[in-house]
Amino acid sequence: MTTATEELYQPPKVFLEQSNISNWMRQRGITGYDQLLERARNYEWYWAEMAKELAWFKPWDKTLEWKLPFSKWFVGAQFNIVHNALDRHMKTSTKNKVAYIWESEPGEVERWTYEQLWRETNRMANALKRLGVAKGDRVTIYLPMIPQLPIAMLACAKIGAVHSVVFSGFSSLALKDRIIDAESKVVITANATFRRGKAVALKANTDAAMTECPSVKNVIVVRRTQDAVTMQPGRDLWWDEAAKKESDQCDTVALDSEAILFTLYTSGTTGKPKGIVHVHGGYAVGTAATLKYVFDIKDKDIFWCAADIGWITGHSYIVYAPLMLGATSIMYEGAPDWPEPDRWWKILEREKVTILYTSPTAIRMHMKYGQQWAAKHNLSSLRLLGSVGEPINPEAWRWYYEHIGGNRCPIMDTWWQTETGCFLVSPLPITPLKPGSATKPLPGIDVDVVDSSGKPAPIGEGGFAVLKNPWPSMLRTIYKDPERYKQNYWSRWPGLYLTGDAAMKDEDGYIWFRGRADEVLNVAGHRLGTAEVESALVAHPAVAEAACIGVPHEVKGDVPKVYITLKIGQQPSEALVEELKKWVSTQIGPIARPEAIEFRDKLPKTRSGKIMRRLLKAQALGKEVGDISTLED
Ligand code: WTA
Repeated sequence: MTTATEELYQPPKVFLEQSNISNWMRQRGITGYDQLLERARNYEWYWAEMAKELAWFKPWDKTLEWKLPFSKWFVGAQFNIVHNALDRHMKTSTKNKVAYIWESEPGEVERWTYEQLWRETNRMANALKRLGVAKGDRVTIYLPMIPQLPIAMLACAKIGAVHSVVFSGFSSLALKDRIIDAESKVVITANATFRRGKAVALKANTDAAMTECPSVKNVIVVRRTQDAVTMQPGRDLWWDEAAKKESDQCDTVALDSEAILFTLYTSGTTGKPKGIVHVHGGYAVGTAATLKYVFDIKDKDIFWCAADIGWITGHSYIVYAPLMLGATSIMYEGAPDWPEPDRWWKILEREKVTILYTSPTAIRMHMKYGQQWAAKHNLSSLRLLGSVGEPINPEAWRWYYEHIGGNRCPIMDTWWQTETGCFLVSPLPITPLKPGSATKPLPGIDVDVVDSSGKPAPIGEGGFAVLKNPWPSMLRTIYKDPERYKQNYWSRWPGLYLTGDAAMKDEDGYIWFRGRADEVLNVAGHRLGTAEVESALVAHPAVAEAACIGVPHEVKGDVPKVYITLKIGQQPSEALVEELKKWVSTQIGPIARPEAIEFRDKLPKTRSGKIMRRLLKAQALGKEVGDISTLED
């Protein structure tokens, strides 16, 4: 098994000397990365230090109350995340700074200053109040990547309402289930949006869902396109008309730091989505701190988190954390390769983006198109890169590092989950990097890899990633289902949070995530991560993408079967099948040799870009496929 420990990328001097984290350490007499991690083992101290960087209406009496598995952070404090994200900037020069550079798919560009964002948030908050939305009420937001999406979220949070954003790529069925579970009073949507040049009928989807959602009293509709839609009198109102009537001043409600900020639904092992609950205080501390110190956000940066706000990555790192830090972010509505594969690089060049944060899937897509697309553009403004969502295979890491980052920009491979709220395992810009490893737990975070009995797995051997301490931005529960929260995350081994991920810790303490634990095969008694096989395959010059599943084998337990898409210009053949089998065998070892290889034009993916191995497996075994509401196509 390769760990590539021999391949180490040392942090550039400029980060060692001038990064936010180096300054923070200098102020406290901390002399190096290892010492930082050591000091932060006192995690209550560390997080309280981070919390002091935000503005509190009333400070906390106690940093943490931990009644396993339920945590409360900054107990007794009064807080509102919107006071930090918007209001407090009205008294500083950030007021006139651009918060979002928004580009639509057809190509319009809008620049929203903090003040403009604040005024429109106030209007929408007043409009919600007029509709009877009060503290604790739920609002479902079904919007595409347009400025009204963060505004709607902030408007809810400002008055203490709970938002539940449903990714705009979801069907009306998925929307309906999520509205019903949240018992939302109001739904905010748009008449339509654009995707690959085509209009997507969001209002029609909403109307379809609405037939079974009695809790919903009103639907607010953003006029995104010229498309006419049916408006139901008494229920539906246009955003622009509603906002126009309202004052652009609105008080921010002081909340208990544990007040619910949002729920966000994510798939579990069963068909019913889980409403992950995050709260104002702790979530704000975790997200602001991690963005500031991992991505080293400075006043002049142009930050681009190229995710969709419909997922946790966008909630945390397009909306809340960048706004709390007073940063300028890019927000792009459309597909990355529309109308040409260099759409992203055009935006990046024009806006002189300094930090780009994306996913391995996107990187591999760009690899597949070829480096000539990025090469046409000047990307020299970049100083830092990031990756999230799945293990990044070293091949993609190196491509990203060389062709996008110009061999200059450290890559922050951030491991985290909807449940964790913020990055937990990730390098800081002062961490030596190993391609393919998310490196070490961040300060204040304790992650371990355990075997099936819950004991620490031997170094270099695979196991299950678990978390040993609470952290401020952890989920508080599953909405309306604390029992499922306990069962799902805390029941396997006492006191350990089950991430569901397979991982390995190497001799330097670096963690190598290998995909979900349910995607780990046991081949003749050896653990083999599907991600490992895929990583080996995508390193082959003919392969664009690979998905590996385990299929039962009489003698060996599981054997790997892989599905492959080829790079443009490559042809499937029997000879190539043999070559690839041999390739994997030599890359990892004979146990990894795929039993079968199938070529596909494309692989089934979730709308967030993860390959749906579960679906491939069900097909291969002729079984029921289960919940596929997150499938893209
Ligand atoms: C996977 C996305 C390896 C992991 C923020 C986790 C990763 C799941 C990484 C959560 C990474 C995310 N390296 N695997 N850097 N980041 N994952 O809830 O399996 O959509 O459990 O949150 O994505 O996915 P979610």
